[in-house]
Amino acid sequence: MGEVCRECGDRGLVLRGNAAVPCSCVKQKAMRFRFAQAQLTPLMREYRFEHFNFQYYSRTAKDGVKGITYYELARRAYKAARDFVDLFLKGEAGEGLLFIGPVGAGKTFLACCIANAVLEAGKEVLFVVVPDFLDEIRATYDEEADVEYSEHELLGLAKSVPLLILDDLGAFIYTEWARQKIYSILNHRLNHCLPVVVTTNVALEDLEEYLGERTTSRLIEMCRSYRLLVENDIRFVRRQERESRRR
Ligand SMILES: Nc1ncnc2c1ncn2[C@@H]1O[C@H](COP(=O)(O)OP(=O)(O)OP(=O)(O)O)[C@@H](O)[C@H]1O
Ligand SMILES: [Mg+2]
Ligand SMILES: [Zn+2]
Repeated sequence: MGEVCRECGDRGLVLRGNAAVPCSCVKQKAMRFRFAQAQLTPLMREYRFEHFNFQYYSRTAKDGVKGITYYELARRAYKAARDFVDLFLKGEAGEGLLFIGPVGAGKTFLACCIANAVLEAGKEVLFVVVPDFLDEIRATYDEEADVEYSEHELLGLAKSVPLLILDDLGAFIYTEWARQKIYSILNHRLNHCLPVVVTTNVALEDLEEYLGERTTSRLIEMCRSYRLLVENDIRFVRRQERESRRR
């Protein structure tokens, strides 16, 4: 879990002479909290466990490998997400989660449910959309650009935040540079027993091709994987629902 402040023991105040003054960690935490929340769009703030709808997951279609219905897969993923939050809030880091599935299967939705539940409990979480986060780091290299945080701060945050959610660690052509950033974040978290929740479109057996062997091996060590399967992209199904209601 997060490290206890060495200056104030997390009391938030330190003694300067006879006066108690706010510890620098307070400001730093406030910055981190704001930054973490800012990554969730207003729409994503609505993705909550109570709103997770199981009707999008077929009770008849089964996955080819294990013969489990899509509905049952969704139930398992959902339960794993809830259990993860319970453990995390109790201060037990536990295993992270990896949600795997096709486009529009509810992976980001479920990851946001976790983020919102953790935020609501007043705990820190950083939700990052991986390609955007890499862009953000890259932007710090531009001396002209007016960036809010340095690369060091961004990476430091991703490495040390009590819970990191990596959305869309997907099928991109990662440069060696990007792979190195992802590796260093995950390696640090693994070594400090800090959990990570990941969503991806890439099947477990293909991840290595995109992320490299060392990163993939660490992910597999840190996360239990769950698949979300749908017959049709939920975005498409929801559009049809809206349109049929309008008729
Ligand atoms: N279980 C669910 N209940 C209600 N709405 C859902 C559910 N799953 C997904 N949705 C809705 O469907 C849309 C797509 O879901 P989401 O963004 O989670 O898909 P995804 O699996 O992350 O897809 P991608 O691979 O494209 O990122 C969103 O608008 C989301 O609100
Ligand atoms: Mg997604
Ligand atoms: Zn402090």
